[in-house]
Amino acid sequence: IFPKYLKNKKVLVTAGATREFFDPIRYISNASSGQMGYSLAKIAYTLGADVILVTAPTCLKKPYGVKVIDVVSAEEMYRVVIENLPEADIVIMNAAVADFKPESYSTQKLKKSKENPVVNLKPNPDILKAVGEKRKKDQIIIGFAAESENIIENARGKLKSKNLDYIIANKLDVFSKDTHRGWIIDKNGNITEIPEMDKESSAFFILEKIFKR
Ligand code: C5P
Repeated sequence: IFPKYLKNKKVLVTAGATREFFDPIRYISNASSGQMGYSLAKIAYTLGADVILVTAPTCLKKPYGVKVIDVVSAEEMYRVVIENLPEADIVIMNAAVADFKPESYSTQKLKKSKENPVVNLKPNPDILKAVGEKRKKDQIIIGFAAESENIIENARGKLKSKNLDYIIANKLDVFSKDTHRGWIIDKNGNITEIPEMDKESSAFFILEKIFKR
């Protein structure tokens, strides 16, 4: 029997790597597997929450008990998250959102040519930043920060600039791994180390640390 730390709570989770298409079959994206976000959704349900998982494409199976909304691009994810934000008690933004998208889209497949093709990029919306701006005070907003250097310092900067309650900081190496390790940082500056564990255990550890009363 699992503890019900999240009983009666509505939890919104984002996961996966958004895809930004520039022709019908080609896109830019990134290397996130979506595992951590799916694990968080699954464990939040196990802990008693009502869970909506907004997911960009992944190879993962849909977790049982969770309402899944599939999206592809950052723009789409933005719309779905903002639409569902007012109802949420807790928002966990784990998606690897592409920061940039192609400036133009070709409805025909781009052909090979002698010249090197050029794909110009323009910025995508920062979904988490928008959530931080539109949030209600009593909502709990949790972000992730994957960093290659000055991990804690950079993560603290994001926690502040995006108006979050917690940020989970980790090195970039967790992207290609089945395990996770990192740090939970709260808005008062407290740091809890997350030891290396499989991602479901890590999700349990994170949710228990934050929501156990
Ligand atoms: O600034 P950075 O992209 O490193 O911040 C990471 C956090 O912001 C993650 O929680 C990620 O899900 C979220 N994010 C977002 N929209 C973006 C970029 C990042 O929601 N366009």
